[in-house]
Amino acid sequence: MSIAIISPGRDVSFWIKTFNEADPDIDIQVFPDIRDKDSVELVILWQHPKGILKEFPNLKLICSMGAGVDHILSDPEIPRSLPITRIVDPGLTIPMTNYVVMAVLNFHRQLYRYQSNQRKKIWDMSNPELKVNVGVMGVGALGSDVIEKLKILGFSVFGFGNSPKSNIDFPYFYGDELTQFLSKVNLIICMLPLTPKTENILNLDFFRKCNKGTYIINVARGNHLVEEDLLTAIDEGHVSGAFLDVYRKEPLPVDHPFWNVEEITLTPHIASVTNPGSAIPQIIENYKRLKSNTPLMNQINPILGY
Ligand code: GLV
Repeated sequence: MSIAIISPGRDVSFWIKTFNEADPDIDIQVFPDIRDKDSVELVILWQHPKGILKEFPNLKLICSMGAGVDHILSDPEIPRSLPITRIVDPGLTIPMTNYVVMAVLNFHRQLYRYQSNQRKKIWDMSNPELKVNVGVMGVGALGSDVIEKLKILGFSVFGFGNSPKSNIDFPYFYGDELTQFLSKVNLIICMLPLTPKTENILNLDFFRKCNKGTYIINVARGNHLVEEDLLTAIDEGHVSGAFLDVYRKEPLPVDHPFWNVEEITLTPHIASVTNPGSAIPQIIENYKRLKSNTPLMNQINPILGY
């Protein structure tokens, strides 16, 4: 069995070490130094060169190195018959939730206002807490953990997704109920998978339907957001600001306007980074399941895109 890691530009030495510790019999090959393409049965991908998978004639399983699979499904030459899995584990979920909670609390307790006041030596005790109704878009493994934790902190939380859901303990909207959902909230967290349906969903029309002063947190994908529309919506007052971790082009170009917008706080796609220690056991387990013909963990539906 041979596994190929195809993640150009990423230092994968820790992945190799962790695989070796988990099972020294597994042969790991790392792109671009793939020695024996015929022996590769499983690939682990992050931003792979499009079209490369057709070079592996014995491939049986495609694994995303992270939670998202948009980077895989956007390759038109992906072998459509092969299963695709993603990483779902507490090592991704807990950091993501902590990041989102931090951004929500900063808005709720107006950290930016107090930081600005500090610089100006202003002592203003008025309105110390903003009333926040949170809207979480995307209620899968990551989104539902955020909802649970925010509810524990006492926030009113509303969910939005693609399809109907049962057995949930929060108000939930889906499909064409977006306008109703937006009317309930003044803080929106985008945690949606990136699919043709959700691409550009955070656009000017969306922002203009938001309650005035709504705050936006995007920890999903840069392509959910029409970036110039966010700037217009901030100018118009529909949006009061944004906390962003993802961008249409990463790294964010140095001449990008977001760097200099006071209402925008940005971080460099670090909200949640895959931890090989917890991701690798599930990849190995899936490989074993594939061999024994048992259902895979965390397999995505390529039609839905998540
Ligand atoms: C990160 O963005 C991921 O998809 O894991």
